[in-house]
Amino acid sequence: MQRRDFLLAGAALGASALLPGAPAWAARRRLRLAMIGTGMRGQVLLRELLRRDDVEVAALCDVEPIMLARALEMVAEAGKRAPRTYGEDGDAQAWRRLLQQRGLDGVIVATPWEWHAPMAIEAMEAGIPVGCEVVAGVTLQEHWDVLAAQERTGTPYMLLENVCYRRDVMTVLQMVRAGLFGELVHLQGGYQHDLRGVKFNSGDPSQPYDSGVEFGPKGWSEARWRTEHSVRRNGDLYPSHGIGPCAMYAGINRGNRFTHINSFASKARGLHEYTVARSGGTTHPSTRVQFRLGDIVTTTLACENGETILLQHDTSLPRPYSMGFRVQGTNGLWMDLNRSVHIEGRSPAHEWEALTAYAAEYEHPLWRRHADAAAGAGHGGMDYFVVRAFVEALKAEAPMPIDIYDAIAWSAITPLSEQSIAEGFRTLEFPDFTAGRYRSRKPIFAFDDRY
Ligand SMILES: NC(=O)c1ccc[n+]([C@@H]2O[C@H](COP(=O)([O-])OP(=O)(O)OC[C@H]3O[C@@H](n4cnc5c(N)ncnc54)[C@H](O)[C@@H]3O)[C@@H](O)[C@H]2O)c1
Repeated sequence: MQRRDFLLAGAALGASALLPGAPAWAARRRLRLAMIGTGMRGQVLLRELLRRDDVEVAALCDVEPIMLARALEMVAEAGKRAPRTYGEDGDAQAWRRLLQQRGLDGVIVATPWEWHAPMAIEAMEAGIPVGCEVVAGVTLQEHWDVLAAQERTGTPYMLLENVCYRRDVMTVLQMVRAGLFGELVHLQGGYQHDLRGVKFNSGDPSQPYDSGVEFGPKGWSEARWRTEHSVRRNGDLYPSHGIGPCAMYAGINRGNRFTHINSFASKARGLHEYTVARSGGTTHPSTRVQFRLGDIVTTTLACENGETILLQHDTSLPRPYSMGFRVQGTNGLWMDLNRSVHIEGRSPAHEWEALTAYAAEYEHPLWRRHADAAAGAGHGGMDYFVVRAFVEALKAEAPMPIDIYDAIAWSAITPLSEQSIAEGFRTLEFPDFTAGRYRSRKPIFAFDDRY
């Protein structure tokens, strides 16, 4: 019997107890995990895995020898056993061999976006639970395919959306759940991050950021692949950091759902101007590239329960980093830019208060319990929590806290926003990926101090 058949059998029985022949991860307190893609992000996630006593890093795959070597060095420095490795020969299909390695309890996918769907689908078909970096897929069809594979196999799938675990985001989640903002009316978020120094570099691995104007095969790390998406595509290319927290606040897929979407894209200027300024003229080939991605892409979503959500994708212009969160209800609001809230009846009239004034009362139990362990982890500690959630949910055989429906609904914003822009900023109906199950699905994300 294939491992996926056990999973299906377990699901059919509704059994979470340890059935004879249950998948290995169900019985183990220690998981054997693999990682495909050991680049800049993979290494951050790897560091979190290596800090854990309940994880053995059993396999690593990357087609870039320098990235693979760096990851192996991290394993050695942590004093852990060397994993099996794949891809050092540059074979872009080597991950398929990794998925055949016996005894894997899960795989983390941290490769370029175009690989996420095929890798996740094959892993799920092999019965290997998936922790997938954002995003879930590229085209809308790919999103349907990932969803179908998960539903068909029953293999756990989690989107590793770390911003849902950001400390202030989780404090606000507690405040939302406690009703401080009243009934939610409008939410905002986005990905507002100057990536010009990431989308271009010199191609020299020793100085990857802000170091040149190469991209594609001559670039390094994300410049090798991410920039190409700005050449070919026009839409909100990276929605999940902004929509994840908003969707959790609004109960999307759990009593609520997105019903409509539209996107507007501004003109594209930032990337071209950057290459001209950085290369000192217009002779470098990068300065002659036509970028399709509008510098600011603004997406609006309507929700069945009457909320609106505004998302902005802003990665090509000079600006300090900000997700631009705003959560507004009938009784007040939070904005992350000024780190402030206003709660009617509690805050002085028409005045802001620091969110920190609410932390003592509304700090999330996860942060209360694990803030010390999270100290030093990537992105202000949230990477500790997202890795921990995947591992702990797997060990407990619990549903993934950010599950396939979250992953698909959040990530499908990209192809839908591209379609909206391509069709003259048309408003589109948003598919119900849960096929009606959103009505009865209950919120599970971060309901206690477990995941
Ligand atoms: N959640 C976050 O905060 C966060 C932050 C950064 C990146 N990311 C996501 O992580 C993913 C990886 O981004 P990154 O910054 O590490 O990029 P990167 O380019 O540094 O790393 C990607 C790695 O994948 C490898 N790769 C490419 N094709 C492969 C294949 N066929 N088989 C095996 N390995 C292959 C590359 O050689 C590279 O080392 C992306 O999806 C990105 O969006 C998430």
